[in-house]
This record gives sequence, structure tokens and C-alpha cells, in this order.
Amino acid sequence: MKAFVLRSFGTPETLALEDIEIPTPGAGEVLVKVRATSVQPYDWHMMRGEPYVARLMGDGPGRRRPKITILGADVAGQVEAVGPGVEGLRPGDEVYGMPKQGGFAEYACVAVSDLAPKPAGLSFEQAAAVPLAALTALLALRDDGRIEAGQRVLVNGASGGVGTFAVQLAKAFGAEVTAVCGPRNTGLVRSLGADEVIDRTKEDFTRGGRRFDLLVDTAGGRPVSACRRTLVRGGAYVIVGGPGGRWFSPIGHYVSALATDPFVSQRTAITNVIRSTETRNNLLTLTGLIEEGRVRPVIDSCHPFHEIPSALAYQERGHAAGKVVITV
Ligand SMILES: NC(=O)c1ccc[n+]([C@@H]2O[C@H](COP(=O)([O-])OP(=O)(O)OC[C@H]3O[C@@H](n4cnc5c(N)ncnc54)[C@H](OP(=O)(O)O)[C@@H]3O)[C@@H](O)[C@H]2O)c1
Repeated sequence: MKAFVLRSFGTPETLALEDIEIPTPGAGEVLVKVRATSVQPYDWHMMRGEPYVARLMGDGPGRRRPKITILGADVAGQVEAVGPGVEGLRPGDEVYGMPKQGGFAEYACVAVSDLAPKPAGLSFEQAAAVPLAALTALLALRDDGRIEAGQRVLVNGASGGVGTFAVQLAKAFGAEVTAVCGPRNTGLVRSLGADEVIDRTKEDFTRGGRRFDLLVDTAGGRPVSACRRTLVRGGAYVIVGGPGGRWFSPIGHYVSALATDPFVSQRTAITNVIRSTETRNNLLTLTGLIEEGRVRPVIDSCHPFHEIPSALAYQERGHAAGKVVITV
């Protein structure tokens, strides 16, 4: 099968298009014929091995060499074969989910615990835009943010892959949503249901005097103390991401937020979708919301398979409106 393989850390050009063996599904896994995948910051963090401090972490990119040699954390496609012990799935079934290795390839093995039936009515490309970004938004709001109906929620980075889902999910949970994004995307974010939209180039959301119950921060860029000032006493500051850096960022930002957490009246949480053990159940929750028409994937652009390196370079610039998707 054709796959973009990462043999050493580096730029998008490091990914080499190779012919390799189709993987064999292990116990509890299925082999998926990949029809679409997506690119996201997780891919280029793993590709570059940055920030370097992440190489010391168990779920990091690896110390000297990439641990994940075929990137692409989202797939949508058809079951080609099932591994030992798999029940309830058959060749031809349409699924979507998160492989540990392999969306940038024609086939990928995915644990049954990390996939679900593809939502009815979504194309493979639309389905591939969902898993990692939407699961992250769900965890940030529901589990880390403990969102409740009627709360005032601020989403910073509302136009990105995670942010476009966070705005819609927060509305689905019954919150009043203020969304922060760049000037090109204010109309898009409003169309997703945001009650108020702040153009980040015109207004600093930490200085407006508004107070929120929950801040979900996917973009970073503002000091921890300023973010906390936007929250009511007892509010929650949920950090999802922030600007990448070579050595520490965004992990340095997480550490400083956690280190000061015991001394402030707000609660701090760091979302980590990779460590989640509830991927299948959470995908089923998302499927329900998508099929009810309450959440939809926003696709910035769709690229053919051979353009994966340039799609990654484009995504890395940080201004895609929604998800960057690949047809395989
Ligand atoms: N913790 C986890 O489990 C987890 C999971 C997924 C993602 N993440 C992280 O979450 C972050 C967002 O991921 P994503 O997939 O949504 O990325 P993305 O699609 O690239 O979105 C980035 C967002 O940042 C905004 N932005 C760009 N430059 C900015 C600036 N200078 N100031 C403020 N906002 C700026 C962009 O909006 P405009 O262009 O409209 O300004 C866009 O909304 C990344 O850091 C990623 O690594 C973490």
C-alpha cells in the first residue's frame, strides 16, 4: 500500500511516499481501507518532535526517532478485515475513528475501542474531519470544564479545528457562547451559533470586563493571569492548546497554569485527548449530535493524498477555518 512514512523528525518534506506492507489487524482491531483523513497540529508536533520537552513524555513523539511513523490521527473508511475477537463489525462497514498509526496511508489498523460507525449523511471527508478535534472539544467542555446549561462560555480560537466544534457543542449543552477568532472568520463562527463574536485583532478578550463561567482556550497567546481574570470565582480555565515552540511551548504554559492553580479561586484543567479511554463512547455521542443536526464538521479545504506534505505545511500556519482534510 502507499503511505507517507516518517523515518526521522523534520519538516513536511521529511515524509516519504513509500510502498509498504498492508498491516495485519491484531486482537480487538480492524483493518480500515482509508477513504479520508485529516491533518492537525498533533501531526506536525509528532512530525517535528517538538516541543523537545514532549520527547520525555510517555505519549510524546519519541526521544530520538519518531514513535509514530505513519501520521494522520483521524480516519474514515470501510472495514476491510477484522482481527481476532472482534464482533459486530464486518468488511464493508463504514466507520470513523482514531488509529494509533496510520491515517496517511491506504490502510490503517484501528482498535475497536477507538472507532464507531460513520455518522449517516456525512461523506468520508466530512467524517474524517471529526474525531480528534471534536473529541477534544467534547472532553474540554463536558469533562474538564463540567459545562452546565445557562453558563457563559468563552471559546478562544473559535475558528480552528477544535474551536469550530467547541462553539457548536457548547451551544448544544445550552451555554451562552462568546467566541474569539481572527477577522476573516467572524461570520463563520457566528453561523455556528456563537452569541457574541470578538475579533481578536480589534479587542483583547481579557480586557473587556466580561466575566465567564468557563474559558476553553485552544489558541493561547494571553497570559494565564489575564485569562483567569475573565472568569467568575469558581470558574473553570480549560487549556487545550497554544502557540507551538521548539523547546517548551505550549507545555510551559500548561505548567505555569497548573503551578498557580492552588492559589486562585478558579479551577484549571488541561485537556488531553490522546490519553482518553472513552473514545468509542464519545464518538457515539458525537454521532448522535451530528445526526440530530446539532453539530457539523467545518472543512477549510480538501486535498488529494499526494498533497499531504503541503497540506501539513498549510495547516501549520495556524489559520485554517475548521479542518484540513485529505481524500485518500
Ligand atoms: N490537548 C489536546 O488533547 C489537544 C487536542 C487537539 C488539539 N490541541 C491543540 O489545540 C490547539 C488548536 O488545535 P486546532 O486543531 O484547533 O488548530 P487550528 O485548526 O490550527 O486552529 C488554530 C486557531 O488558532 C487561532 N489563531 C491563530 N493565530 C492566532 C493568534 N496569533 N492569536 C490567537 N488566535 C490565533 C486561529 O484562528 P484565526 O486564524 O481565526 O485567528 C484558529 O482558530 C493546538 O495548539 C493543538 O495542538 C490539543
